[in-house]
Amino acid sequence: MTDKQYILTGPDPDNTLQLPVLEPTVGPDVLDIAKLYASQGVFTYDPGFAATASCESTITYIDGEQGILLYRGYPIEQLAASSSFVEVAYLLLHGELPSAAELQDFDHTIRTHTMLNESLLRFFNGFHHNAHPMAMISGVVGSMSAFYHDTTDIHDPHDRDVFAHRIIAKIPTIAAAAYKHSLGQPFVYPRNQLSYCENLLHMFFSVPSEEFEVSSVAAEALDLLFILHADHEQNCSTSTVRLAGSSGTNPYSAIAAGISALWGPAHGGANEAVINMLERIGSASHIDEYVDRAKDRNDSFRLMGFGHRVYKSYDPRAQIIREMCHRVLEKLGQSNSPLFELALRLEEIALKDEYFVEKNLYPNVDFYSGIIYQALGIPKSMFTVMFAIARCVGWVTHWREMLADPETRIGRPRQLYVGPARREYTDLKQRS
Ligand code: SDX
Repeated sequence: MTDKQYILTGPDPDNTLQLPVLEPTVGPDVLDIAKLYASQGVFTYDPGFAATASCESTITYIDGEQGILLYRGYPIEQLAASSSFVEVAYLLLHGELPSAAELQDFDHTIRTHTMLNESLLRFFNGFHHNAHPMAMISGVVGSMSAFYHDTTDIHDPHDRDVFAHRIIAKIPTIAAAAYKHSLGQPFVYPRNQLSYCENLLHMFFSVPSEEFEVSSVAAEALDLLFILHADHEQNCSTSTVRLAGSSGTNPYSAIAAGISALWGPAHGGANEAVINMLERIGSASHIDEYVDRAKDRNDSFRLMGFGHRVYKSYDPRAQIIREMCHRVLEKLGQSNSPLFELALRLEEIALKDEYFVEKNLYPNVDFYSGIIYQALGIPKSMFTVMFAIARCVGWVTHWREMLADPETRIGRPRQLYVGPARREYTDLKQRS
């Protein structure tokens, strides 16, 4: 806390409240309004929590004006250039980069916990063949609370560690099982000698009837995408995990709640929506028509993959992914991808349009990621699942931080009530 303070004066000028100022390591000061209602009998109103800090955190910092993203203080650009997803997972979970021995030990733990209980695998047979994979993984992850009773004491640090390793290790296997179920193909078991992303590609694309060699280009591309999607401060799905977790619920249920929140097209579902939008636009000649529709307040069409609650400049992750598209598409022999060309042209036109400039609408993490997933042979319906695999690390990290925070109480916002004041019940006979 600093000695800076804000003075709130109510309708009665003699009735003032000093609001303490909480000073961050970096970023805007935070007004502590915890005593506001008790002292002044008023609530604050902030739909969408655009100006509300829900907690104190040491995990990820975003500066939306400068386009800065730090994981435990490390710039995303440096982690993208030099780290790996498993190392970033360790960094987020533990707060420090691992030593070689720590990384090897963590990697071994993850590699040796990738299998699912066979009964859990049978859950997939209960899903309709064309169920959306996000519906399947949210159901199966929630069901893990019916299998792992032995390690769900949220107050036991050992149980919290086992849960973290289990969910991070098993979510790719669950994702692959959902994909194989949608194809009507047999499940492919994980192979512990493969890296995290190699294993995922192996479980996605290998079939019992022939040899399969994992593409190192694809594994590297996935690893980088997973680094970029691993965490992002108090976004919708992470806040959902924190809120659900604050009731003391089973950790698998809290993560399942996060998966459900991520699925929305305004959030993680946008990567699938971007490809659908690009396919709908079809060619550069139609871009102006759709840009005009995106600007029309009476038209529900939005330019998917554009805009962000926090970034009012270019999302640094989108920058990295756009550059990655060039490299990966060329290595995969798809450098003249029509969708990528269309996306580049759409970005060029939109960023020159005063509507987008005035409202600070730039491409976000979802604008280009689907182009790479598609180039890797991953279907659109699995794009948000890929996002969920990576974001599991962030969700688990924030869940652990929430539980360890002595300030944590069950999340329970208030409201601005504008419904009817008290009125008396009338019998049916008296109603017209
Ligand atoms: C993710 O929070 C995170 O960190 C999320 C995320 C993460 O890593 O966890 O970064 C991942 O979810 C990225 C966002 C993916 N979603 C999309 O790409 C969907 C399209 N984008 C929009 O729906 C929107 O931009 C949001 C949801 C992302 C942000 O919405 P906000 O912050 O509530 O902003 P807003 O809707 O109030 O928009 C401000 C103005 C509005 O116009 P006015 O009412 O002021 O006239 O900008 C307009 C909006 O209509 N606007 C858009 C637009 N996005 C905002 N207009 C056209 N196209 C768009 N994409």
